[in-house]
Amino acid sequence: MDERLARDPAAIRAMFSEVAPRYDILNRVLSLRQDVRWRRRLVGALGEAPAGPVLDLAAGTGDVALAVRDRVVIGGDFSLAMLALAGRKARRLGRRVAWVAADALELPFSDASFAGVTIAFGVRNFVDLSAGLREIGRVLAPGGVLAALELQRPRHRLMAGIVRVWNGLVVTPVGRMISHDGDAYDYLPASVDTFPDRVGMAEVLVGQGYTVLESRDLSGGIAALTVARWEGA
Ligand SMILES: C[S@@+](CC[C@H](N)C(=O)[O-])C[C@H]1O[C@@H](n2cnc3c(N)ncnc32)[C@H](O)[C@@H]1O
Repeated sequence: MDERLARDPAAIRAMFSEVAPRYDILNRVLSLRQDVRWRRRLVGALGEAPAGPVLDLAAGTGDVALAVRDRVVIGGDFSLAMLALAGRKARRLGRRVAWVAADALELPFSDASFAGVTIAFGVRNFVDLSAGLREIGRVLAPGGVLAALELQRPRHRLMAGIVRVWNGLVVTPVGRMISHDGDAYDYLPASVDTFPDRVGMAEVLVGQGYTVLESRDLSGGIAALTVARWEGA
């Protein structure tokens, strides 16, 4: 758990590979299907991006990449187990997405390759948030758009209390039971508590050369959508 909270890449990759087979069902149950709505908002934010290909980073089982329409899409993740499930899902849906094994902090793409980058529930796991956002900027064309969806600790005290109870009574025990990884669903709330909220995220983005176009709470501040334009190195 300590290694995970230090965002050690090997520990994070092993954790996601372990939970991959149960990841989708746990997402739906533990978020009461809010995750589906949140991802729709994330993909909608690509309307701010110029025409061109999109990279969905930390693609997991592919739900974001598969929701992007009318663009060339690449899904990147450093867990091969996740990518295998994403590939299977794409084949079932008759969709063509290129799935690429990639660490977000060292992307195997040339500078300015993409018009847009999406990332859902991924940045929270980066070993170095600033370096990750800079690397995403490198592969974005100037004027390209990063849309990031992330969980956060709600600022409203009542909402924060509800989330704490939900995490304690449902997320951790149910996650533990279904995922076969004792610690993964302890890591989830702990990683949210130790990650910047959308205001902090916006500050880091600006520090790395982005202009923030949108920063909004979703579902009472449980999650946040941040949309930012890369201004070029
Ligand atoms: C919580 S899942 C999110 C999956 C998907 N985006 C979704 O909406 O359900 C986080 C994913 O990020 C991947 N990941 C975490 N850190 C990464 C990194 N540095 N580079 C590439 N993938 C990473 C994990 O392997 C995992 O599949």
